[in-house]
Amino acid sequence: MSFDLELKGRRGLVTGGTKGIGAAVVRALSAAGVELVTTARSAPAATMDHAHYEPADLTTADGCARVAAVVERRLGGIDLIVHVVGGSTAPAGGYQALSDDVWANEINANLMAAVRLDRALVPSMVAQGSGVVVHVTSIQHELPLPESTTGYAAAKAALSTYSKSLSKEVAPKGVRVLRVSPGWVETEAAVRFAERLAAEAGTDYAGGQRIIMTGLGGVPLGRPSRPDEVADLITFLVSARASAITGAEYVIDGGTVPTA
Ligand SMILES: NC(=O)c1ccc[n+]([C@@H]2O[C@H](COP(=O)([O-])OP(=O)(O)OC[C@H]3O[C@@H](n4cnc5c(N)ncnc54)[C@H](OP(=O)(O)O)[C@@H]3O)[C@@H](O)[C@H]2O)c1
Repeated sequence: MSFDLELKGRRGLVTGGTKGIGAAVVRALSAAGVELVTTARSAPAATMDHAHYEPADLTTADGCARVAAVVERRLGGIDLIVHVVGGSTAPAGGYQALSDDVWANEINANLMAAVRLDRALVPSMVAQGSGVVVHVTSIQHELPLPESTTGYAAAKAALSTYSKSLSKEVAPKGVRVLRVSPGWVETEAAVRFAERLAAEAGTDYAGGQRIIMTGLGGVPLGRPSRPDEVADLITFLVSARASAITGAEYVIDGGTVPTA
């Protein structure tokens, strides 16, 4: 059996590729030889050798249209899209704290960015009869945390359902569509969160991590996933080694969701 990923020379877009999971995906796909465009609102801390960085706000239709045009201009087509962009800017306070504007922002960031970019770019995959799309969802779509992320969790659930439907539509045309659903991942932001919880509780970093695990109802693995571990899974899924896999959701959460 060969484990040649057959990714060398492929053309790809990774959204949200400057930090956390997205930056790890950019590193992994670049190392595998993929020619990349990536986007975020602010420039990456370090220059990227093998990816073109395009500044854009993907919560807007204009931002998505501009990125799709840049992909076409720089890559001349596309073989894979990894939709990493997402997150929550909602305040704490439960469902009553979620105004229409907050809801719109959660839905634009976590659902519409992917919907708009797919609508612009998937037709060229269909025309060439091949391509792979990965939507990064979250275990929160089945295990929501109501204090501040109800809107985020609902938007990720919509993304997951949208992804499944798209997969059924385009699989017969040679395009695979998949979901990767992370649990707690130790990104720079997650480290800062654990440090803050630790400081508030007067404990150390490991104590801050235990508070997070308790809030999640326990993490059997006893630690968060690392961004590189999520990127490795995505790299396999977009590769030729996963060519019979479509319409599926892969959970990477150290066992957090009890039924997974
Ligand atoms: N970390 C976790 O524990 C975890 C768990 C489950 C699911 N996820 C999902 O995994 C994905 C990545 O999470 P992460 O924790 O790695 O995120 P992160 O560290 O916050 O990075 C997010 C990336 O997206 C960019 N971005 C954010 N808003 C944007 C916008 N409006 N337009 C364009 N780019 C934007 C950010 O750059 P700028 O800020 O400069 O724009 C950055 O490059 C998200 O979809 C998240 O929901 C994460």
